[in-house]
Amino acid sequence: SSPPAVAGPLLNFAGIPTSTADDIVVAAGYTATVFAPWGTPLFSSGPGSSWAGDASESAADQARQVGDNHDGLHFFPFTEGNNDEGLLVMNHEYTNVRWLFADGQVDSLDDANKDLNAHGVSVIHIRRTAGRWEIVADSAYNRRLTGNTPMLLTGPAAGDTLLQTSADPTGTLVFGTLNNCGNGYTPWGTYLTCEENFNQYFGTLNTLGTPRNAAQVRYGLDSNGTERKYEQYVPRFDWQLEPNESNRFGWIVEIDPFDPRSTPRKRTALGRIKHENAAYRIGADGTVVVYMGDDQANDYVYKFVSDGKYVAGDIRNNANLLDSGKLYVARFNDGTATGDFMGTGEWILLDKAANTALAGFANQAEVLVNTRLAADAAGATKMDRPEWVAVHPSSGEVYVTMTNNSSRTLIDDANPRANNRYGQIVRWRETGNDPSATTFEWDLFVLAGNPTVHSDLRAGSSNVTAENMFNSPDGLGFDKDGRLWIQTDGNYSNSGDFAGQGNNQMLCADPGSKEIRRFFVGPKACEVTGLTFTPDGKTLFINIQHPGEDGNSNWPDGGSARPRSATVIITKNDGGVIGS
Ligand code: FEO
Ligand code: CA
Ligand code: CA
Ligand code: CA
Repeated sequence: SSPPAVAGPLLNFAGIPTSTADDIVVAAGYTATVFAPWGTPLFSSGPGSSWAGDASESAADQARQVGDNHDGLHFFPFTEGNNDEGLLVMNHEYTNVRWLFADGQVDSLDDANKDLNAHGVSVIHIRRTAGRWEIVADSAYNRRLTGNTPMLLTGPAAGDTLLQTSADPTGTLVFGTLNNCGNGYTPWGTYLTCEENFNQYFGTLNTLGTPRNAAQVRYGLDSNGTERKYEQYVPRFDWQLEPNESNRFGWIVEIDPFDPRSTPRKRTALGRIKHENAAYRIGADGTVVVYMGDDQANDYVYKFVSDGKYVAGDIRNNANLLDSGKLYVARFNDGTATGDFMGTGEWILLDKAANTALAGFANQAEVLVNTRLAADAAGATKMDRPEWVAVHPSSGEVYVTMTNNSSRTLIDDANPRANNRYGQIVRWRETGNDPSATTFEWDLFVLAGNPTVHSDLRAGSSNVTAENMFNSPDGLGFDKDGRLWIQTDGNYSNSGDFAGQGNNQMLCADPGSKEIRRFFVGPKACEVTGLTFTPDGKTLFINIQHPGEDGNSNWPDGGSARPRSATVIITKNDGGVIGS
C-alpha cells in the first residue's frame, strides 16, 4: 500500500553547515539526545549491572551490557502504531580494542571472550515516559546476542560438508554472529542482522603449514595472525585447525526479538558475502524480495527472490520464507563509459542447475557458501563497494550507496570515476515494477564530490554544492513519506580532497527533485550509521559508531572519558514528523 501523498515539498528544514567539533549537531528546530552507549547495563543486578568507565569489565560483564560499535538498528513497536514503547534492536559491528581494554589489547582468553561479547546484537526494551526514552531494566525481552551465542544454519547449504567442523559434524550449529553491519527487518516482525567483514577474525598460527584455498583468499582471510589475536586463544578461529569455521560467518541472520529464547537462524539461501544490509520488498503475489550489497571494492549487488509467498498474519507460513528461493547477482549494462550515467541491467541467476557458468561448482551448497566465486564466474558487474540498499516506500525504486573505490581503474557508467574517493548512489527500477523481474533500468541519483576543490567529475553531480557536499555515502533509508536519508562513513580529515566536508554526517534527499540538505553532523572520527523511526515518523533513532577511533574524542561523556559508540534519538521540537 502507498503512503498518503505528502502536501508540499518533502524537505522543510534548513540545511546546516558542516562541523569538526567533538559533538553532535542537528538542524534548527530539532533535539538530539544520546541513548544506550556502549557498556550500558541491561540488567540491574548480577554481572555487568554497572558501567565502570575504565574498561575493567570482564567478558561476563560485557555479555550483559550494550555492545560496541553500534550500526544498523530497528524499532519494533510493542503494538501496531505504538510510538512510545517497543524493542530497539541494534547491531554491534566490531570493537575499538584501544578503548575496550584497559591495556588496549587482547592478551588472554577472557579478553578474546570480552571482545566476542562486545560484538553481535542488543535487543533493548525501551519506553517513553513524559517525553523521555528509557531502557526498561530487567525486562524479559532484554537480550544480548554475541560472538558466542548458539545459532542455526538453515536453508539449502545447511549441513553441507563445507559447513562441518570438529565441534559440529552436523554443519548446522554455530557459536556466534560477527561483524554485524547493516540490518534489515521483515513484515512478519523479525530482525535481520548482516555479517560483513568476518574474515578479520580468522587467522592462523601456521602449525600445519597449509596454504589458504581459493575461497579463503577471495574472502580475505589473513595468511598469518590477526590483529584481534582470537586464533591465539580460541582454536576455532585458526583456519588451519578449523578450515570450515569461517564458512559459518558472512550470512544474513534472522532473529525473532519478541521471543527471547528463540535461536537465531543463519539463512544460507541468501548467500555468503560481506553483507552490508538487507532491504525487502513484497511483490504483488506475496513474493519476498531481499536486496543486498557486498561491501568490497569491485564486488557486487544481489537479490533473493523467495519461492514461498508472504501471508500477513500467518506466522507459520512466514517463519521460513528466507530458506528457499532464487539468488541473483546484478549486471549493469553500458559497460563502456558513455557519460549519460544510465542504462539497463539484468539479474543473473546463481543456480548451478540453470547457469552453465557455474559448472565448476560441486553443488548448489558450494554456490551459496562461495557466493563471490559464483558471481565472478557468472560475469557480474564490479561495483564501487556496494553498501546499504533502500526501497522507496511507494514507487518500489531501489537505491544503493557505492561508498568509494580506491582501486577502481576501468570505469563504466555506473562507476564512472577511477580512484573514486567520494562515492555515488545508484538507483534502479525493475521491469514492470515487479521485484521478481530479471531486468531493470538504472541511473545515478548523485555523484558525491567536492566542487570547491575539483571541476571535473570529482566535483560531483549538479545536486552537490559547497553547502551540502559529503563523501562516502554508506547508511541509507527511506522514511514513510519517501524522504531519502543518507549517512556517511568517510574521510573526516576536512582537508585536501575533503576540505570543507567536516565530520561524518547525515543528509536528507528528495528523490523527485534530487535536492540534498545536510541534517546532522556527528562527533570526531565517527561514522553515522543506521536509522529507524517510530511508526508516526516523529522519533528518529540513528547510531554513532567509533567516535574517537583516532584517539581524539571524549564523546559523549566529555571530560577525559573514553569515547563510546551510542544511539542518538532525534525529535522535532514542535512534535512533527522528522524532516517535515
Ligand atoms: Fe560495515 Fe560496509 O560498512
Ligand atoms: Ca556501513
Ligand atoms: Ca563504510
Ligand atoms: Ca564502520
